[in-house]
Amino acid sequence: MHRLFFVFSVAVMMTCSATSAEKPSTAPRTAALPAASDCSFGQPPQRRAEGCNRALARTINFGNMLDTRRLGMGPKLRDEFITLSKAAGFTAIRLTVRWDAHAEYKPPYTIRPAFFEYVDRAIKVATDQKLAIIIDMHHYTSMNNRAKTERPRFLALWTQIAERYRNAPATVMFELLNEPNGLHTQDTWNQLLPAVLKVIRASNPHRTLIVGGAQWNTRVALETLQLPADDRNLIATFHYYDPMETTHQGAEWVQGSDAWLGAKCCTQAELQAIKYDFEEVEQWAKAERRPVLLGEFGVYSKADEKTRVTWTTAVREQAEAHGFSWAYWELASTFGVLEPATLTWRKWLLKTLLPQSPVL
Ligand code: GLC
Repeated sequence: MHRLFFVFSVAVMMTCSATSAEKPSTAPRTAALPAASDCSFGQPPQRRAEGCNRALARTINFGNMLDTRRLGMGPKLRDEFITLSKAAGFTAIRLTVRWDAHAEYKPPYTIRPAFFEYVDRAIKVATDQKLAIIIDMHHYTSMNNRAKTERPRFLALWTQIAERYRNAPATVMFELLNEPNGLHTQDTWNQLLPAVLKVIRASNPHRTLIVGGAQWNTRVALETLQLPADDRNLIATFHYYDPMETTHQGAEWVQGSDAWLGAKCCTQAELQAIKYDFEEVEQWAKAERRPVLLGEFGVYSKADEKTRVTWTTAVREQAEAHGFSWAYWELASTFGVLEPATLTWRKWLLKTLLPQSPVL
C-alpha cells in the first residue's frame, strides 16, 4: 500500500548476488504442496510454524466480504467461493474480517453472535474441504488513529475470538492485525505485541499465529518488528504492491492514482527491484528463523490484462523462489480472479497463480 523508495547498499547487493548464484535464475523453486500432517499440533513449535506455513503455500484472500463496515458492501461470502477455491488448487483462504465494526464500543466489547456465525461457517466449510484458513483482523482503522486508547478493545476482541476458536484444528491460524499504519507506528505495535500474544496464548498455547510489521505490513517494517524470541510458533508476513503506479493505478482509495492510469509492467529495472526486495526478505527470514507469508499482492482491475499478468506472475514466482507461501489479493472483488455473478474463473488471471490448476 505504501510507496517505498529503496536504495540498496553495496553489502546488500553482494549478498543478493551470492544468493542468486546458488539458485537457477530462470526456473524458480516451486513451493511443495503441503502434506496434511505438516500442520498439526503434534510437533515442536518451530516445525509447526513451518508446516502450517506450507499449508498456506497458495492462498486466496477473501477480501471485501467480511472486512467492510457494513455487510453487503462487497461480495457476499458464499460456501461456493470456498469449494471453488479448493477445486482450483488453492491450499488456504485468508478471511479478512472487520471485527471492530461488529462489536460493542463499551466493555466487555461483545462481538455480535450473529457476526461470529459467518466466521464459524467459513471455518467449517474450509476445514471440511481440507483448506487451511487465516482469521485476520482487518481494516481496524481506530487502531491506526488511536492505538493506545483502543488497546483494551483490541485485546478484548482477540480474547473473544481466541476463546471461541480454541478447539479449532491447527490449520486455523490467527493473523493479529492487518497493515498497522498512521499513528500506529512500529513502536506502538512492538509495545502492543506482547500483550496481544499473551491474551491469545492464554486459550491457544499451540496455535500458529501470523504477524506483520507496521507501515502497512511492508517488507521494510520486518526489520524493526520485535517478535518474542521464545515464541517459535509464528509466521511473519509482508504485503507487496511495488511499484504502486502499476498495482494501484486508478484506485479510488489512493490519492493521485488516476495519474498512474496506463502504467505498464515491467521494465527490467522494475523486475530486478522486485527480485532484490524478495532476496532481502529471505535474508531477514533466515537470520530470524521465521517462515514467511506474502500475505497480499495483486494489481487493481484498472490496469490492462498484460500488465496484471506480467506483474502477478513475476511476484508469485519470486515468492515461490524464496520459499515464501503467498496469498493473492483477492478472490471476487476489484482485484478478483473469480467473476462472482457467474462463479466463473478469469482463467487468464488464475493461470498466473495456479498454472497447473485442474480448472484451466
Ligand atoms: C489492503 C486493504 C484493502 C485493499 C488492498 C489493496 O488489504 O485493506 O482494502 O483493497 O490492501 O490496496
